[in-house]
This record gives sequence, C-alpha cells and structure tokens, in this order.
Amino acid sequence: MHAQAKPVQMNDAPTSNRKLLAWVEEIAALTKPDRIYWCDGSDAEYQQLCAELVAAGTFKKLNEKLRPNSYLALSDPTDVARVEDRTFICAEKEEDAGPTNNWMAPAEMKGTLNKLFDGCMRGRTMYVVPFSMGPLGSHIAHIGVELSDSPYVAVNMKLMTRMGSKVLDVLGPDGVFVPALHSVGAPLTAGQQDVAWPCNRDHKYIVHFPETREIWSYGSGYGGNALLGKKCFALRIASVMGKAEGWLAEHMLILGVKTPQGKKHYVTAAFPSACGKTNFAMLIPPESFKQQGWEVTTVGDDIAWIKPGADGKMYAINPEAGFFGVAPGTSYETNPNCMESIKANTIFTNVALTVDGDVWWEGMSKVPPARLTDWQGKDWTPDCGRLAAHANSRFTVSATRCPSLDPQWDNPAGVPISAMIFGGRRSSTVPLVTEANNWNEGVYMAATLGSETTAAITGQVGVVRRDPFAMIAFCGYNMADYFDHWINVGTKVGNAAPKLYCVNWFRKNDQGKFVWPGFGDNMRVLKWIIERIEGKVPALQTALGNIPDYKDLDWSGANFSEDTFKAITSVNHSQWQQELKLHDELLTKLEYHLPAALKARYVALQATLAA
Ligand code: OXD
Ligand code: MN
Repeated sequence: MHAQAKPVQMNDAPTSNRKLLAWVEEIAALTKPDRIYWCDGSDAEYQQLCAELVAAGTFKKLNEKLRPNSYLALSDPTDVARVEDRTFICAEKEEDAGPTNNWMAPAEMKGTLNKLFDGCMRGRTMYVVPFSMGPLGSHIAHIGVELSDSPYVAVNMKLMTRMGSKVLDVLGPDGVFVPALHSVGAPLTAGQQDVAWPCNRDHKYIVHFPETREIWSYGSGYGGNALLGKKCFALRIASVMGKAEGWLAEHMLILGVKTPQGKKHYVTAAFPSACGKTNFAMLIPPESFKQQGWEVTTVGDDIAWIKPGADGKMYAINPEAGFFGVAPGTSYETNPNCMESIKANTIFTNVALTVDGDVWWEGMSKVPPARLTDWQGKDWTPDCGRLAAHANSRFTVSATRCPSLDPQWDNPAGVPISAMIFGGRRSSTVPLVTEANNWNEGVYMAATLGSETTAAITGQVGVVRRDPFAMIAFCGYNMADYFDHWINVGTKVGNAAPKLYCVNWFRKNDQGKFVWPGFGDNMRVLKWIIERIEGKVPALQTALGNIPDYKDLDWSGANFSEDTFKAITSVNHSQWQQELKLHDELLTKLEYHLPAALKARYVALQATLAA
C-alpha cells in the first residue's frame, strides 16, 4: 500500500503546449509513476537509456566488434507478437467498427481501462515520447505523443520515428497530436525487484477510440502492441483520419524504380504479414537488369500515407523512420540490403545469441552454429528440436542505415505513385501478375485479397484467410466503408490514378514446390508493370484482368520456360468459380454499406467465368 503519494520527479517540460501538459498531468495522476521523463530524442539520451536497459537486464550488449552499438532483448515468452484478439476499435456505434474488428462501447472500455491504468506505473518512470509520423512539418505527416512506462519502447521509438524535442518545436503551443498511452501493466511495490521483460500475462488491451483519436495499450511490451506509432496510429487511427480528410493510410511498402532511360517511378505494395514485404522493398535487380540501368530504391517497408496532390497525382510518404522487420529468413542471399542495414546500431528482439556475442536466426546461414543461447535464454544445439529464434523475432533499425534508401525518402511533399500492387500467398489459383482494367476493378481485387496463413501468424498453416488490402488487422473502421472510401478517392483522382495490380509469388507445382524464384527475380514483373504504365508492352486479356505474354517479360539471365510461365499465369475458370464462393462469403459479411461497384464487379466476374 502506498499510504502517501510521493511527489513525482520530472525533468523540465520542454513544451508550452497546453493540451499536452494537461494530458501528461492527467495520466500521471491516474497511473502514478515515480518519475516523468520527457524524451529529447538525442543520441546521448539513446545511449543513456540503452545503458539503463543493460543494467536492468532487458538488454544484452552485443559484441562491439561484430555488431557495433547493438543490443539483444529477450521478451517474456508469453509476450511475443501482436494480439489481434485483444485489439479493439471502440467507436460509439458498433457498425462503425464493422464485422472485422473487435468492438466495445467507448464508455464501457474506458471504465475497464481506467481501473487497469490506476496506479499501473507505480515504481516506474513514465517516458513522454513526442514523435512525428512522416517528415517533420510535412503536410501529409501527423504528430503523436506516446506516454509509456517502458524504456524499451522509448529507444525503439527513437529508431522507428522522428522523435524528441524537434517534434515539440513543430507542435508548438497549440498544435494537435494523437495521444497514445501505453503501460506494460506491471506496477512495482516499494523495494520489489523488477523482471527483465515486465508485462501483464492476464490482461492485454490494445484499444483505439476512433472518434477521439486516442490509443490506450495495456499489458504488452512487444512490437505493434507497444510501439504505438506503427499499427495503432499509422494504420488504425490514421485510416480513420484519412477517411475524414480524403487520404489513404495503407499497409504498403513504397519503392522507387529507375528505368534505363532515367525515368523514376514510385510503386506501393500491400502484402499481409510474412509475404516477404521487406525483401520486396529492398529488392536488388538481377545482374542483367543492373547492366541495363534498372535501379530499385527503398522509401518504406510497411506503411504508406497517400494523399491526392494539387496536380491530381497521388503522393506517398513513409510515416515511419525505421524498420521493425521479421528476422528469420533474412540472409545475404534473400536480402543483402537488409543485412547491411542491421550490421550496426540495431536492437534485436527474441533472436538467438552466438557464443561470441553476435546474433543468429533460422535462415541467416545454411549451417547453423554448433551452439547458441536461444530466444528463451536456454542452451541450444542444432539437434535440440527447438527454434533458436522465435518465428516473430525482430530487428529495429533506423531507415538511414539502409543502403538502398531512396534520396526522396524524407521529402515532405512525398513521392508520386505510378502503380499500386496487392499480393498474397497463394499456392494455386491466383496468377503471377494481373493488371486491373480500371480503378474499381483494382479495388475489387484488393478487397478480395486472400493469403495462406503461415506459422508466424497462426497455428493453422496453409488456410486461406481473406485479408482485404492486407488491412484486415489494421483498418480502424468498418471495412465496407473503407472500400467505399477507396472508390471515392479513385473517382476524385480520375485519370491520374495509379494503375492497380495483383501479384502472387507463391504458386506451387504438382509436387508442392514454389515455381517462381521470387526475390530479385520479382524485378521481371516490376519491369513489366513499369512498361505497362509507360505504354510500352501489350498484355493478354483474361476474365480477371490483363496478364503478360511470355515474350513480354525480360528473361535475361534466367532460364524459365514458357510452359512453366503459363502454369503460373493461367486463369483456371473452375478454380475461380470456387474462389468466387469465398469472395461471396466476404462480401456477404460486409454487406452493410458494401459499395454497389464491388457488388457489380462480383456479378460481372461470375458471368464471365460461367460463360
Ligand atoms: C508487421 C505486420 O509487423 O504486418 O509489420 O505484422
Ligand atoms: Mn506490417
């Protein structure tokens, strides 16, 4: 029992923003931290907080020679991933959250949360973390402030966002911000020894209030549950803001493609988790393409905020400033740009530790080290039957370390978008690439996107889950209204709208083997897309849209037969009639407010496939 409230220690509040000062005071009164610390975002502060995390046992400093200025954190084994079943969209009306989100009335949820947050920061420091999603001062960017009792969150936010005093300067005395409250939900009683990864095993709540644009997160210290700028703000709350203000907040990477003629295009791509999004964002073209002069650059690997510009084109920024990527499977073979990025100044979470103080994960090398300490801190040998790194283990690194970073990545005006790609993991049915005939047909493709689940997502492997726009877990409002918003944005942009594509790198042959080599070879598809935009290549028409002819893909440096190509680009009408039954399930679920244009496209497709 704390009989007497201690005065809270606080460094000088470096802001005169009245709303922010009042909010910090209100939350401190509720959560009762021992200290309040305003983050300035400086390198010195980062080093200091990392040193404190090492002293607390949360971080282990990695070998300075092998992995300079880098740390490893091992989480509580029950706190390892986003918790979709504990994620809520608390709109006033249930129908505004829609059938794909968990919902509770805001007043009821606030009642629950107020009880949980009461005193939840006792014995801890409350970090005030001001951050900008997007280049500072960009008309597409927005400011948030996270209050968190986790120093792990504070240092990750330094790498993942533009964070600190410079954000408060932009905010000024009257600027608006999204309040994002986070607690690990593990208050300390006087003298109680802390654990390395505090969290709450019994209660987790990741809650969004779309009308008041607030985030409250309780009980987890991991990833998207705790780094509230990412999924909570940049997707769930921002999608609501975008709907109200006429822009798009999307689960999309952004990449640049320079043609041999020196023309620069920017492309966004939406993929569900575990479909190689970071690899595509950092793609290295095959040697023969490099020789022709093709270049691919990275603007972002996970999220895009896209706004129609005054010239009618759509402009995108990456709201983030770092990568929080999945480690397993990342290697110099699959993603050299990523491996170079994480060579130094990186925070690793739940990967394995080598005997010489470096990191390792499944897929990093073909031959695993003979001995490791695994992600649970246990001795590991290759024959022990356990994974060395957790399947959802991560690296956090600043985008500025990425060798393929695009020179325009921090441009406040954003980059103009020529094409948008939607992809899933499908072992059959969906062709390698399909071009939509028009915006609304592309919206239908994206709305009915499906992907097979992987071990990283759920226990049920290989089940096709509908994941519209790869946003199933991230749309902050009714998905049918979200489809409608996309249709409206397309109408507004008109002829300047990007062309829309659907891709599938994952089709398998009769022996169950992947047919398409993927990775750098995806450049062959990307080149076709760019040449379509530039009106340089024809396409074959199918019931679904336009697909490439074998002869129109650049096969230089490859050995890929026409028959094999046909096998992964064919549109099998009877398979598609089955597929349409699954579309129907989704469209029926989203019937309330479903745009008429999507219903019409479904009916037209059904007729074409039956003909
Ligand atoms: C992510 C995800 O972590 O999509 O980016 O799950
Ligand atoms: Mn993601």
